[in-house]
Amino acid sequence: MRNATITGWGKALPPLVLTNTDLEKIVDTSDEWITTRTGIKERRISHVEATDLATVAGRHALAAAGLEPDALDLVVNATCTPESLIPASASYVQAKLGATNAGAMDLNANCSGFIYALVTASAMVSAGVVDRVLIIGVEKLSYVMDLTDRSTCVLFGDGAGAVVVEPTDEPVGLAASELGVDGTVADILCVPEFGTVGSPGVRDPRRAGIKMEGPEVFRRAVTKMGEASLHVIAEAGWRPEEVDLLIPHQANQRIIDATARRLKLDPARVFVNIHAYGNTSAATIPVALTEALEQGRVKPRAKIVFAAFGGGLTWAAAALTWGDRVTPIATSDAQVPEPDRTVWDVLAPNLEFYGNQERSG
Ligand SMILES: CC(C)(COP(=O)(O)OP(=O)(O)OC[C@H]1O[C@@H](n2cnc3c(N)ncnc32)[C@H](O)[C@@H]1OP(=O)(O)O)[C@@H](O)C(=O)NCCC(=O)NCCS
Repeated sequence: MRNATITGWGKALPPLVLTNTDLEKIVDTSDEWITTRTGIKERRISHVEATDLATVAGRHALAAAGLEPDALDLVVNATCTPESLIPASASYVQAKLGATNAGAMDLNANCSGFIYALVTASAMVSAGVVDRVLIIGVEKLSYVMDLTDRSTCVLFGDGAGAVVVEPTDEPVGLAASELGVDGTVADILCVPEFGTVGSPGVRDPRRAGIKMEGPEVFRRAVTKMGEASLHVIAEAGWRPEEVDLLIPHQANQRIIDATARRLKLDPARVFVNIHAYGNTSAATIPVALTEALEQGRVKPRAKIVFAAFGGGLTWAAAALTWGDRVTPIATSDAQVPEPDRTVWDVLAPNLEFYGNQERSG
């Protein structure tokens, strides 16, 4: 039977760091509040375009799989912060990588985007429609982070993670998946204007940043990530205690802890890196997976669960059996270019734009 398995992995985190202490200088918050309510200590801010991050992550994933870019049949860019809509930002990634034989598309399911892309790509590979797919979860959320709004700006960051999916005859890869959405309540986590809903040529700072009913999103995330994880574990024919590693979306340490409790998993079997990067939406899971592999926390034939929740309101979970190889075939020296500016220089246009909202309109 033809299955689809992850054969390569990689990440790209921009070097500029914005700490909780830095945020204390611009909004009425504290390191103590952010740390205890979210688990986040710092996040990365990108001085380059999202497709530059995506390309670096993609190069690492390709090297890990032992593939050249022209071996790819498809590039899927999971993102809700594309640098352009026409073209789809995946076109730029395809060009920067030199993936000359690939199709390319963006996929937007917000924070669940990586799992949506993995399920889509795995089905296409298993069906024989394509052979080799590069999936990238990439975000430049600093573009929509309203740095005057303490209820949201402390939560997010920029970054990219990538995987390569290829066919295999081994009984590995996705064992079960669940994709869900409740669009009737989509407005409780949204950017009110980032599309044709706005007036041409006008970007209103009051409607251009992320708006969120935090406690309600929190409640739904805890419920859905736990439920969906239990569903895929059951559908895979596993028992929760057999799960070797849960790699959850990194939105809030307390959401991760509640999901782990629902599965009765001890912390040693839950991967967490939210303290370092905050919520990077579609990038959290492929970055976390890459770091789990780097740290030797993925064993051959491990039973892994991915679970996510986010804008849409989407949720998704996947149960997959890892293959035999847990080390890269090769490495890449690709890296995000060194910044020639400070984090405050990079954020200056954001501070100016969102800082104007009281006066505008
Ligand atoms: C956003 C979130 C961290 C807020 O935590 P919370 O414990 O629910 O906090 P609340 O929103 O109830 O706010 C509690 C108090 O802290 C205040 N507060 C909010 N943000 C603050 C900040 N950055 N610093 C200091 N105080 C803050 C509030 O104003 C409120 O004050 P009040 O009691 O005087 O009114 C939490 O709701 C959350 O993580 N939600 C889900 C986020 C998420 O997952 N989003 C993306 C999904 S992918």
